[in-house]
Amino acid sequence: MKKLLETTEANTEGRETLFLGGEKDGNEFNQLSNALNQMLNRISKDQENVKLSIHSLRQANLDLKKAQNDIISAEKLASVGRFSAGIAHEIGNPLAIIVGYLELLKRKDISPSEREDFITRTESEISRIHRIIRQLLDFSRPSSNTIGRISVHDILSDISTIFQYQPLMRHVELKLSLSAREDGVRADASLLRQAFINLAINAADAVNQAGKTGALVVETLNFPSNHANETHQWLEVTFTDNGIGIPADQLNFIFEPFYTSKAPGKGTGLGLSVCYMIIEAAGGRIEARSEEGIGTKMIIDLPVCNGE
Ligand SMILES: Nc1ncnc2c1ncn2[C@@H]1O[C@H](COP(=O)(O)OP(=O)(O)OP(=O)(O)O)[C@@H](O)[C@H]1O
Ligand SMILES: [Mg+2]
Repeated sequence: MKKLLETTEANTEGRETLFLGGEKDGNEFNQLSNALNQMLNRISKDQENVKLSIHSLRQANLDLKKAQNDIISAEKLASVGRFSAGIAHEIGNPLAIIVGYLELLKRKDISPSEREDFITRTESEISRIHRIIRQLLDFSRPSSNTIGRISVHDILSDISTIFQYQPLMRHVELKLSLSAREDGVRADASLLRQAFINLAINAADAVNQAGKTGALVVETLNFPSNHANETHQWLEVTFTDNGIGIPADQLNFIFEPFYTSKAPGKGTGLGLSVCYMIIEAAGGRIEARSEEGIGTKMIIDLPVCNGE
């Protein structure tokens, strides 16, 4: 009995001593010892299995995270590609203007003041090209993976400048109405930018598909939390367009990866699923409201961050 007690205590401290016993006689202590030994073996096997399960769950989690990051990067490359096409087109105009001025500068019959003027204009076209390229580089730079307090208004203003040059926006008027007083959130700036750009591209596509001159209005506002234990405010960002809208029976699918209503080559169906992941990672939520033929409103709520 004493031996049994000692062994039980040893095992509760994690030592691997097994009970004595094993003799096949009918002694009840031996029978009890054998039963306890079997139980101990089972426990240690179970522990091994639990350890293995935890390990494979950890690995699955890591794999999932990596797959999510890969999707976000792939999606970003797709939009960089689309932007580059717009930018290449936009650089064509100033280049043509520069070539024209260079032709003029070659002529002998121009006055010194004309010469001065052509040179200044050439310089300003060159800076325009420089600015356009800078913006594409800024957008395509890989995410720095740094999460910190960032200004959502800065990001939105930035995006409105990039979109100015996009042929995609030729028939879409972009209006910003940034009335939130608190626009700081904790997120990865380049990811949040990617999410907002996706929403703006979708809105522009929807307006262009409607075949009319339309508008995209981006608004921000603050609202208090309605949970007693949440002390922070919320920042709401809405993207409202008057494009083709989304049929009611499709509204539930738009955030699913690869759901697209666009022609092959025009859309991969990853834009909104990536937005969803990015907004969720920033502690927020995203929701769509739409009416076919009228337009769409995408609503993003993010927790306001006041500190560092
Ligand atoms: N503002 C909008 N107006 C109308 N339909 C929209 C709007 N935003 C999204 N959708 C619908 O949701 C679908 C999924 O959008 P999502 O951004 O995920 O993919 P996509 O735009 O088709 O392709 P990708 O963004 O990968 O190039 C779109 O194909 C479209 O049908
Ligand atoms: Mg899209």
